[in-house]
Amino acid sequence: MKILVTGGAGYIGSHAVLALVEHGHEVEVVDNFVNSSPESIRRVERLAGVSVPLHELDLRAEAELTALFEGAGYDSVIHFAGLKAVGESVAKPLEYYGNNLEGTLSLLRAMRAGGTRQLVFSSSATVYGDRAPVPYVEDFEPLDATNPYGLTKVMIERILMDLAAADPSWRIGILRYFNPVGAHPSGDIGEDPAGIPNNLTPFIAQVAVGRRESLTVFGGDYPTADGTCLRDYIHVTDLVEGHVAALEYLAAHEVSCRAWNLGTGTGTSVLEVIAAFERASGVKIPYTVGPRRAGDLPASYADAQRAQAELGWVATRGIEEMCADLWRWQSQNPHGFGS
Ligand code: UD1
Repeated sequence: MKILVTGGAGYIGSHAVLALVEHGHEVEVVDNFVNSSPESIRRVERLAGVSVPLHELDLRAEAELTALFEGAGYDSVIHFAGLKAVGESVAKPLEYYGNNLEGTLSLLRAMRAGGTRQLVFSSSATVYGDRAPVPYVEDFEPLDATNPYGLTKVMIERILMDLAAADPSWRIGILRYFNPVGAHPSGDIGEDPAGIPNNLTPFIAQVAVGRRESLTVFGGDYPTADGTCLRDYIHVTDLVEGHVAALEYLAAHEVSCRAWNLGTGTGTSVLEVIAAFERASGVKIPYTVGPRRAGDLPASYADAQRAQAELGWVATRGIEEMCADLWRWQSQNPHGFGS
């Protein structure tokens, strides 16, 4: 298949581009580099031994995007591009709704004009809001979120469902990610957050290489075995294999719009992640237990059965492997793509 990947230079996007190329697909990338570097694609090209055309473009530049689709013959799009920091989204709602919603609408119109009707969308477990019981099942309703970032995912899912209902020629897969971590086993590509990392494992990795002094564990009084939150950490390699499986499923089945959780089905606590990282890296992580972070839930993990039954996909990599691969990336590239 010929596939356009939006946000293909980002953390998950770059790993997906590599996996798609390795599965024999022809891939092009569109990215505006607000939170990514073209260096990731250069490294993917080196790893894969093929060239990946890179279009520097903001999805909201609809005329240029439409022109890109004209005559290109893309069979499918994987849509990763978007802003994703929860705290920042609370401070800058117009930027988040503007970027994520307008970018997606522009993309969908460009796809329609260009005759591409197959789409895989990068959603998040955040759409289960704070009322769904764990493990999360895809049919839970109503979808909701506690911050503008999460609400852009809820709203885009709604838009995609309405679009598929109105025009049966679309085939849309919605992938709800749990907590993607780790890096490609080569250590050549990985997550390179700008500024202070919001997420747990990039923060731990930066402490380990000496870029940060110590980790604060957000809350030690949750109703869990060790008092810290449980999350469903999923290796980025497993996650991107889920995208390949979803694309192949959409190409072979009469689906209009369907959501799949991409998680392992297992909850791991913050203290368990720290311990696993210490074992994998041999580096001690200094930490203190601080107050809870607003908006955090005690537990979030997937019911992963639908993806297994329908896509034939299952996550196989455990937390130790995630930490070992994260450490290889971070220790070889202490300053990310800038080093
Ligand atoms: C967060 C977002 C989620 C988003 C996802 C994308 C929130 C509330 N949720 O998920 O909407 O889809 O990132 O990446 O922000 N932790 C610490 N210390 C830290 C950082 C995190 O103890 O310095 C803890 C958190 O309390 C949490 C766990 O580590 O229990 C994982 O946190 P994080 O990596 O930020 O992911 P989520 O909060 O699950």
